[in-house]
Amino acid sequence: MCGIIGYVGKNNSVSYIIDGLKKLEYRGYDSAGISILQEGKLVTVRAVGKVAELERAALQVNPVGTTGLGHTRWATHGKPSEENSHPHTDCSGELVVVHNGIIENYLTLRTQLESLGHKFKSETDTEVIAHLIEENLKHVRAANEEEKLIKAVQKTNKEISGAFAYGVMWAHAPGLLVGVKNQSPLVVGIGKKESFLASDVPAFLQHTNKVIFLDEGEVALLRGGQVTVLDKTGQVKKAKSVRISWDQKTAEKGGYDHFMLKEIYEQPQAIEDTLRTARADFGKILGLDTSTLRGLKDIHIIACGTAYHAGLVGKYYIEQFAGIPVSVDLASEYKYRTVPHMKGTLAIAISQSGETADTIGAIKKAKSLGFRTLAICNVLGSTLTRLCDSTFFTHCGPEISVASTKAFTSQITSMYMLAITLGLANGNVSKAAFDKLHRELMRLSKAMSETVKLEYTVRHLTRKIYKADRFIFLGRHVNFPIALEGALKLKEVSYRSAEGFAAGEIKHGPISIIDKGTPVFMLMPHDSVFEKMLSACQECRARGAFVVAITTPDGVAQAKRVADMIIPVPQASEFLQPVLNVVPLQFLAYWIAKRLGCDIDQPRNLAKSVTVE
Ligand code: M6R
Repeated sequence: MCGIIGYVGKNNSVSYIIDGLKKLEYRGYDSAGISILQEGKLVTVRAVGKVAELERAALQVNPVGTTGLGHTRWATHGKPSEENSHPHTDCSGELVVVHNGIIENYLTLRTQLESLGHKFKSETDTEVIAHLIEENLKHVRAANEEEKLIKAVQKTNKEISGAFAYGVMWAHAPGLLVGVKNQSPLVVGIGKKESFLASDVPAFLQHTNKVIFLDEGEVALLRGGQVTVLDKTGQVKKAKSVRISWDQKTAEKGGYDHFMLKEIYEQPQAIEDTLRTARADFGKILGLDTSTLRGLKDIHIIACGTAYHAGLVGKYYIEQFAGIPVSVDLASEYKYRTVPHMKGTLAIAISQSGETADTIGAIKKAKSLGFRTLAICNVLGSTLTRLCDSTFFTHCGPEISVASTKAFTSQITSMYMLAITLGLANGNVSKAAFDKLHRELMRLSKAMSETVKLEYTVRHLTRKIYKADRFIFLGRHVNFPIALEGALKLKEVSYRSAEGFAAGEIKHGPISIIDKGTPVFMLMPHDSVFEKMLSACQECRARGAFVVAITTPDGVAQAKRVADMIIPVPQASEFLQPVLNVVPLQFLAYWIAKRLGCDIDQPRNLAKSVTVE
């Protein structure tokens, strides 16, 4: 899981590449490197750590050239070190490769190449690509050096296996960058007399919004502003470019200290934008006609991390409104369990990035079982959206912070829309009931605008508790997944120990970890399980917990009697309340992490999209 950027054009490529790498740091950040073609020679600079380290090192060397490649790494093969950082070269030092993904047969290839005399300098699987292309360059026939490189790359693609995307630059073919996409993300940006190769659009969005999303097995040839795409059979393809509506400002921090905070505040807009498309015929958007909707007997939701929690909320929605049984699986588990075949099964993959390897693997399994597949996804052109029969886009804009916030609430919102649409189609919900549920949904963005005003209250609270060793989150029914999400968010960004439980479960074991002063967050809107939550508050308080009640206006008076502190959230309908309830927990995680001095947008050991299993 790494970030690739390439530039070929009329200007010095160095600043384009360094800036692009900074935008890609969310993909991994243990080391970084650049190679620039300078007067017929490749100048490579690499550094361990963040892109800022590379920038410092590059300033010393000061390379100049109009063609270059860059890479930010998140280690898979070989420890983070300068030798293992990309770009990697062949024996001659005249060819460089940057790569994202895994070459599964690299050990076999490495042994073969070593027996042919190739000398390896790193422990990575990537270096195999550079040496294999070097070897293949000796064996292909071509009219000129550019054609030779293209043929050698195509031959190499047939010999390597795995999920990968890579970029290549060769000193003998100046002005040409070659990009290869196979199950890992790679996009091309086309500017005026310049073009870009990148793992994701924000890497070059400040220069162009004209983008080609490559398909699996395709090879892109970049020469200045000219881009040629070869399909997987090697034929030139008429590649379609699209204009991306995200501007650069959207992809940057916009005045906030961190992307995470900015993205929390973007939630009213994210919900509004997600629902805008849903105002039209939602069934049609899903690519599911009424008879397919009616015929659904069983739904499997597949996702990881935060998206999995959105799936858990979705189960409550679909079973409530559509009466269809739902199972929710962690994608990494779904792949390995026996999944009974049924006619009329819909598999729904929820993913912000659409590039999560576990989710992609699980949806492939669902497809192989003959299930219809639907992606709820935020990234246009991502692998998941290409795999699934249809996609509903969450439209929340680029989510840069590793900790997912606005994608989560947009995912839940989409699940709600899906559930009521299914209910209307299969007769579980009447037209009048659907209209009421729909109206409530359309009010959600406004309620979210009120909810984000809670930052000050939560910030103030964190002063008291940020040094605690462990935090507990409790919820029931539709708020149970929010307790899990609150704990995950806090763990991720503040490295504190945090656990979420169904409130009814604590007496079966977890209550033993509650001690004097342990902060316990109760998700207790004034709803059908409010009374039960009041009892849970008392149970925790009796063990000395510092109880914080997150409740709606009607619950405040009673909650005050059993809690040490109240966070009042605006009222929504019972089933939409989780979308609002998670917001104070997002602020909580943010402010505890901030007080503890953590790297909020790029927490240790994590990466934004996990493209390896
Ligand atoms: O891109 P995805 O939604 O598929 O990512 C799934 C998880 O890796 C992701 O939600 C992860 O748990 C987040 N860092 C949570 O904040």
